[in-house]
Amino acid sequence: MRRLLVTGGAGFIGGNYVQHRLRQPAGDLVVVLDALTYAGRRETLASVQSHSGFRFVHGDITDADLVQRVMAEFAIDTVVHFAAESHVDRSITEPGVFIRTNVVGTQVLLDAAMDAWRVPSGFRDGVRFHHVSTDEVYGSLTPSDAPFTEDSPYQPSSPYAASKAASDHLVRAWHHTYGLPISISNCSNNYGPYQFPEKLVPLMLLNALHGRPLPIYGDGQQVRDWLFVSDHCTAIDRLLDAPIVGSTFNVGGRAECTNLRLVAALCERLDARFASEAALRARFPECPAAHGARCIDLVSHVTDRRGHDRRYAIDPSRLEAVTGVGPRWTLPEGLAATVSWYLERADWWGPLYGG
Ligand SMILES: NC(=O)c1ccc[n+]([C@@H]2O[C@H](COP(=O)([O-])OP(=O)(O)OC[C@H]3O[C@@H](n4cnc5c(N)ncnc54)[C@H](O)[C@@H]3O)[C@@H](O)[C@H]2O)c1
Repeated sequence: MRRLLVTGGAGFIGGNYVQHRLRQPAGDLVVVLDALTYAGRRETLASVQSHSGFRFVHGDITDADLVQRVMAEFAIDTVVHFAAESHVDRSITEPGVFIRTNVVGTQVLLDAAMDAWRVPSGFRDGVRFHHVSTDEVYGSLTPSDAPFTEDSPYQPSSPYAASKAASDHLVRAWHHTYGLPISISNCSNNYGPYQFPEKLVPLMLLNALHGRPLPIYGDGQQVRDWLFVSDHCTAIDRLLDAPIVGSTFNVGGRAECTNLRLVAALCERLDARFASEAALRARFPECPAAHGARCIDLVSHVTDRRGHDRRYAIDPSRLEAVTGVGPRWTLPEGLAATVSWYLERADWWGPLYGG
């Protein structure tokens, strides 16, 4: 049983993690601290709202007084730090907010954990600061390069990736300098339920349902490794349980795919569902598949993002060796589950989707 502070728990991965954690019978206390930016939604946490182990604090991770109060009031022994500005395109137009939340916010949390957990002999037993980061800190690979390992050099390309790289360095420095018990995971592209519709998978799905263009950056041959979000949640739990203080782990889906191929797979899934379900054809009449046409024909190639990394691929062997778990969801299974979720949960995405 742990007393967790989950920062960014109203966001995509954090929200999935909170629900995943509270489904287990461990009797945890899970305190979410979230500023509810455009990306954070209380609705994502509706299913745990009345759970006896759930608390929600609306606030900013850069607010040092608040963070200290929350750590003390709830006697937190574990921090799982998801809160971040996470969208690369936004980091190109508004880098300042990324530095503030991703870098300064991480430092505030590290200091609060130090203050709360320090004892004369070092730190309280069993405490852990787990930092959730990204494979984008490693930069870009060519098609023939080996996947990133935990020892790959940091070469972030975008302001987002640079801010996450800085936060990783801070977390490691607080361990090496002060002995704070930390762990870090660098994960690949997540997909699944509750993802904000500015990200590739939900954007393509919802645009297709509404008969709108599917904008693909450049030639669409950028390669990403795709991780179903529940596999990520399981990996974090296993890392919290493992005696790996001070270590970093790559978390990937073993599912490399080009953006164009991924969009084609989503379109094929939608086409098949619409072909066999009259109710979908009635609910989403603007979808090409409602009239027997193909969703993929909505693809529209647009000018590539500035500095767009060509390929990310991640080697999750260390995680698998230490925890014994690898990805359980294949890409086709995860995409099918994601398509089903978005088809069923217009109540969640409707207020967010402007097209
Ligand atoms: N989504 C991915 O594919 C992916 C891949 C690799 C790493 N990550 C990392 O995982 C973490 C979670 O990503 P996500 O996709 O769930 O992000 P998200 O954008 O969906 O959610 C971020 C959450 O953080 C909250 N937040 C933002 N600024 C805050 C602040 N100053 N104080 C308190 N809360 C704040 C938001 O309200 C939101 O609820 C991030 O650290 C991200 O860098 C994500």
